[in-house]
Order: sequence, then C-alpha cells, then structure tokens
Amino acid sequence: DWTTGNVIEEQVAAIRAQVGDKRAICGLSGGVDSAVAAALVQKAIGSQLTCVYVDHGLMRKGETEQVEKDFVAATGANLKVVDASERFLKALAGVSDPETKRKIIGREFIRVFEQAQLEILQEDGPEVAFLVQGTLYPDVVESGGGTGTANIKSHHNVGGLPDDIEFELVEPLRKLFKDEVRMVGAELGLPDEIVQRQPFPGPGLGIRIVGEVTKERLDLLREADAIAREELTAAGLDREIWQCPVVLLADVRSVGVQGDGRTYGHPIVLRPVSSEDAMTADWTRMPYETLAKISTRITNEVADVNRVVLDVTSKPPGTIEWE
Ligand code: XMP
Repeated sequence: DWTTGNVIEEQVAAIRAQVGDKRAICGLSGGVDSAVAAALVQKAIGSQLTCVYVDHGLMRKGETEQVEKDFVAATGANLKVVDASERFLKALAGVSDPETKRKIIGREFIRVFEQAQLEILQEDGPEVAFLVQGTLYPDVVESGGGTGTANIKSHHNVGGLPDDIEFELVEPLRKLFKDEVRMVGAELGLPDEIVQRQPFPGPGLGIRIVGEVTKERLDLLREADAIAREELTAAGLDREIWQCPVVLLADVRSVGVQGDGRTYGHPIVLRPVSSEDAMTADWTRMPYETLAKISTRITNEVADVNRVVLDVTSKPPGTIEWE
C-alpha cells in the first residue's frame, strides 16, 4: 500500500540502519526536495543530523527566514546558517554574462558549503560519515541509477583532517516523484510555503538581473518579485502557473511620467509560464485584472521602476529564465 505514512516509516527505518550512531550533514537550498529529505532524516536520527544553509543573498523576500524559522520550527533540526551574501556580491562584481554568473555562484557555493562541512567535522561528537541529498526518482533514472559518495577537499582549510574526506550518500527520496515528495513533506509537518513551492533556480535572483548584480538591484527586484507573488497567490493562480520569473532589466532605462515629473527608470518583466516539466512551456494566459494590479503596485511601490512588461514567448524558442 502506498501511503505517506508507510513511506515515512520505511525510510525512517532504512535511514537508522544506514547511519547507525554516526552523524550526517544535509545542505538546505530553500527548495522542496532538500527540505523534505532533511525532515525525514531528522525524524530518523534527530540530533545526529546537522543541516547547513548557505545564504548567498540571492534568495527572494522571506525565503531565508522560511528556512531559518519555519523549517526549524517544524522539524527541530540543528541548523547552521552561513551568511555569505557579501562574499557572493564581491565575486559577482562587474559580471554581466549569464554563464559566468552561474559558474561564479556555483563555485562560491561549493567553497562556502565545504568550509561549513569542515567546521561540523571538527565539532565534538560521533564521526560525520553521511551526506543527505534530495535526489528524486526522475534524477535517479536520468543519471543511470547508481548511488554514491561525495568528496570534499580539506587541504587549505584546517589541520588534522585527511586531504580528501569521503561521505556516503543518504537519499531517502530516491523512489519518489515530486508530488509524492510534497505529500510526504506535508505529512511531516512542513509548512505549505515550503512543500508547495514552485521551482526556483539555484543561482536565484542572480540570473534574474539582466546586467551586473548589485545589492541595490537585488533589493529592488526582491520587492517587485514579492508583489508579483503576493498578487498571483491572492488571485489563486499558483497551481495554474508553473513559475513566474520576475526579471529586472538593469541595463535598460525608459522614459516615464509619475506625479509631476519625468522619470527615467528600469523595466520589470513578468514571465508567467505553464509547463509540465520545464522542458517546454507556454506563456500563461492569465487574467488582465491580475496583471493590472501587479503593474500598478510595482510601479507605485518600487522606486526606479517605471514600466512593467509581459513576456509572451513560449519555450522554445524562449527559455523560462531570461539568463
Ligand atoms: P530554462 O530557463 O532553461 O529553465 O527554461 C528551466 C527550469 O530550470 C530552472 N533553472 C535553473 N535551475 N540552476 C537551477 O537550479 C540553474 O542555473 C537554472 N537555470 C534555470 C528554471 O527556473 C526552470 O524551472
């Protein structure tokens, strides 16, 4: 019988058998999969798990707090938060090319995460031998089905550790599809904002600013994005829309008029798409009233934005993200 209760029971037993009395680390991304994997492992081994969240400063409004407060409140997990936003901003300074941004964000992410792992390894307590990953069934099939290990390099960082540390992987979602993962997460008591979350790219808002990423631009985009999300949710469109990137065209300015004066501000692009798997997508024919509300609110409430435009391109030829 497939029930969330049975899945949880089976996985809790399997995790306990695998980990024994050793310790495990789980990286949280803010996404559904890592949160549910961590919650399952937490249920199985409690304080033998330490979760790590790298705050790269590229998350949307409220998302870091969701991990820091709501996830911890729901699971009781040990969470180590690393605020690395300054480091990411520095590394991204002057960079506009999308693939270069992705590479920098990915590289910095691994460095910060590995440093956090090493710190946990050096704490008192049982050996840390496991790394938890939120691998789903479709990922397993795509990668040929193997399970494995992960290495971190310790050399330049701290003494007393071998050069190469190997973790065995714990992958409690390997038999599950996305909708099943959401059900398991809900059963484990995770809030809707986490388990029903739409896809969001790892590089975050860094690839939704067309142009250089700066703190001011991130703050501006966070405000515009929060307004769009609020209105889409209020209109009941969260299920119909697969995801709706909100993009800041930071290098574009256009003329506007507001109050008594002429403005010269930036456009915000709304990119609502409908999709089954993100491989192909169509732009969502969403209600004009909701578009009007979002447009009015963004231009009124977000300084330096004087225009909101709608992306009406399917995928292909457009990708979902603008970068
Ligand atoms: P595109 O833009 O290629 O996006 O149509 C397809 C799906 O993938 C997400 N996406 C990413 N996710 N890292 C991620 O983790 C990335 O660099 C990345 N780029 C795109 C995108 O949000 C959409 O769901």
